Amino acid sequence: MKQPLCLFSVLFCVFSRFVGATTSYTWKVPAIYVFGDSTVDVGNNNYLTNSTAKANYPHYGIDFPHSRPTGRFSNGYNQIDFVAIHMGFRRSPPPYLSLNDTNNHQILKGLRGVNFASAGSGILDSTGGNIITTTQQLLYFETLRSKMMAQPNADQVAQRLSKSLFLISAGGNDAFAFFAANNSPNNSAVLLFYNTLLSKYENHIKTLYGLGARRFAVINVPAIGCVPFARVQNLTGGCINGMNQIAKGLNDAITDLFSKLAVALPGLKYSIGASYDLTLTAISNPRSFGFKDVESACCGSGKLNAQSYCTPNATYCMNRKQYLFWDLIHPTQQASKISASVFYDGPAQFVGPITYKQLVYSNN
Ligand SMILES: *[C@@H]1O[C@H](CO)[C@@H](O)[C@H](O)[C@H]1NC(C)=O
Ligand SMILES: *[C@@H]1O[C@H](CO)[C@@H](O)[C@H](O)[C@H]1NC(C)=O
Ligand SMILES: *[C@@H]1O[C@H](CO)[C@@H](O)[C@H](O)[C@H]1NC(C)=O
Ligand SMILES: *[C@@H]1O[C@H](CO)[C@@H](O)[C@H](O)[C@H]1NC(C)=O
Ligand SMILES: *[C@@H]1O[C@H](CO)[C@@H](O)[C@H](O)[C@H]1NC(C)=O
Repeated sequence: MKQPLCLFSVLFCVFSRFVGATTSYTWKVPAIYVFGDSTVDVGNNNYLTNSTAKANYPHYGIDFPHSRPTGRFSNGYNQIDFVAIHMGFRRSPPPYLSLNDTNNHQILKGLRGVNFASAGSGILDSTGGNIITTTQQLLYFETLRSKMMAQPNADQVAQRLSKSLFLISAGGNDAFAFFAANNSPNNSAVLLFYNTLLSKYENHIKTLYGLGARRFAVINVPAIGCVPFARVQNLTGGCINGMNQIAKGLNDAITDLFSKLAVALPGLKYSIGASYDLTLTAISNPRSFGFKDVESACCGSGKLNAQSYCTPNATYCMNRKQYLFWDLIHPTQQASKISASVFYDGPAQFVGPITYKQLVYSNN
């Protein structure tokens, strides 16, 4: 791109060289570190021998460059890829488990970042099967950070960490698990669940803060009662209200938690993307989002195409840009693209108290 732009505008060319020389990168943040579940996993689970939560086979990735299944639970890119694109990167940073001594040089300098997310994981360690728990994701980050701090220029590395984006997308699997164990919980069971989960979430954030993280981009718990997997459990095909209520309650608590932490922890800044509200809004106004189908899975089989996973022998839709859901749980690339744009620079209804863009451009 640099050469053609130089032809168009000598000034632009000089300017971009100047920026390049002073900062040595043109991204909006030095790096992105990603934690959470399948909504942002880009292939860590491929490396887990015994994990069944994998998406490294067709038709996953059918719209990814070269139609390659990468472990993303999407027909193409997922939300973190689009967030990374908004930050000036090509796509998500690589999965932690893909790193080795030959491909980690920039990462050790605090550049680009790493994706620790693992499909099936939750905020609680008890959520998920053979997956990387959030606690383990944080331990991996701690290990990596020690290696980064052992590099020459540790001061610069610490500075980069404080400017980097720490993105967390978690909680949906905890809510699924809670509801699966008890689909008509009483108030005290719900309160106990919220308290247990939020105290764990708080510990995770404090751990990251202690390791130098300052800028937190959060994706809240999606409207899990409206995913095709939930709808097929309702005879009318409607959303399962109880699941959504759990998700909504968690989201209210997560919002409160961050406003409390921003007071308690100096320098902490955060932005919460309201995946929950955005999904419900898209479901009630599909056409304004360009969707034709917001209820069934594009890829799968049976009722709502949601009675099997998107396996190699499943059928899939052709008009994938018009679907909200790619498989029985996960959004399409198109839906992920929309949500990332909204979280980056959208209205206060869907992202707050500041946007991801304001989060990365904020000083100090
Ligand atoms: C996978 O499961 C097998 C059988 O239960 C076990 O022997 C093996 O240690 C497990 N591998 C890993 C990496 O956990
Ligand atoms: C390191 O990882 C990269 C990409 O994941 C891979 O292509 C390369 O072969 C690996 N190198 C070694 C020495 O394992
Ligand atoms: C609420 O539900 C929990 C778990 O199912 C049960 O142990 C408890 O006794 C119930 N409490 C009340 C007040 O019904
Ligand atoms: C099923 O969907 C209908 C709307 O179609 C809704 O009124 C009903 O409450 C839903 N059932 C459950 C268990 O949430
Ligand atoms: C795909 O094949 C598997 C194994 O033969 C079978 O269990 C599953 O039901 C098939 N799924 C579809 C969508 O036909």
